[in-house]
Amino acid sequence: MVDRVVKRFGGVTAVNKVSLSLEAGRIYGLIGPKGSGKTTLFNCITGVDQADEGQIRFKGQRIDGLKPHQIFHQGIGRTFQVIRVFPELTALENLLVVTTDDYAAARARAEDLLRFVKLERLANEYAGNLSYGQQKLVEFVRVLMTDPELVLLDEPAAGVNRTLLNELLDAVRTLRDRGKTVLLVEHDMKVVMGLCETVFVLDHGEKLTEGPPGVIQTDERVIEAYFGR
Ligand SMILES: Nc1ncnc2c1ncn2[C@@H]1O[C@H](COP(=O)(O)OP(=O)(O)OP(=O)(O)O)[C@@H](O)[C@H]1O
Ligand SMILES: [Mg+2]
Repeated sequence: MVDRVVKRFGGVTAVNKVSLSLEAGRIYGLIGPKGSGKTTLFNCITGVDQADEGQIRFKGQRIDGLKPHQIFHQGIGRTFQVIRVFPELTALENLLVVTTDDYAAARARAEDLLRFVKLERLANEYAGNLSYGQQKLVEFVRVLMTDPELVLLDEPAAGVNRTLLNELLDAVRTLRDRGKTVLLVEHDMKVVMGLCETVFVLDHGEKLTEGPPGVIQTDERVIEAYFGR
């Protein structure tokens, strides 16, 4: 779906001819050192950044060149590395900002989704009063309001305590079991190992390698990229 994508910022090539092939109903990891281009690649896929070269296809259609809201409506949802919830809205209201057409249906879905990550008792709490991990879960389930086919998660586990992390991991596996595709950027290798079937490794904007997490973890090039500098 991602085909030789290039993204430059001035003289910096943040993403350099990266290709990723994703199959439905699988969980993929995207790892790499800081500044290796992970978030930029997410931004290209979701239309936040425009790729300078290459193609991005989703369900057989070109999506590069579309606006973020158009890509969102094609069925690609994402969370952000820097959390984006509305602190002055309740947890429930944070989910309801996504859809407006059928309020009753949206509300029922939002309540279901809060239950999905065991936050139903905090539905009417201001998001700003929730713990950081709970806010991340709210942001995660907000992405699910439109029932996306592909979910991109940018460091979902960072700063999340053990209990909430387990909720998140269970929820991601459930999505996969329902046929959704998940691509996640994550620095916590235990999370990557426990969750992902295939891992893509970026280094200096280029795809260094890809493979099952067990193989990636012992790959000399990956160890060098992470620790060899
Ligand atoms: N809007 C921008 N303008 C200029 N340079 C940018 C911009 N966004 C990213 N970059 C540069 O592109 C490169 C890749 O950054 P990116 O944020 O994609 O890395 P990352 O892999 O997500 O890193 P991290 O693990 O720290 O989140 C970096 O050199 C970064 O400074
Ligand atoms: Mg990033």
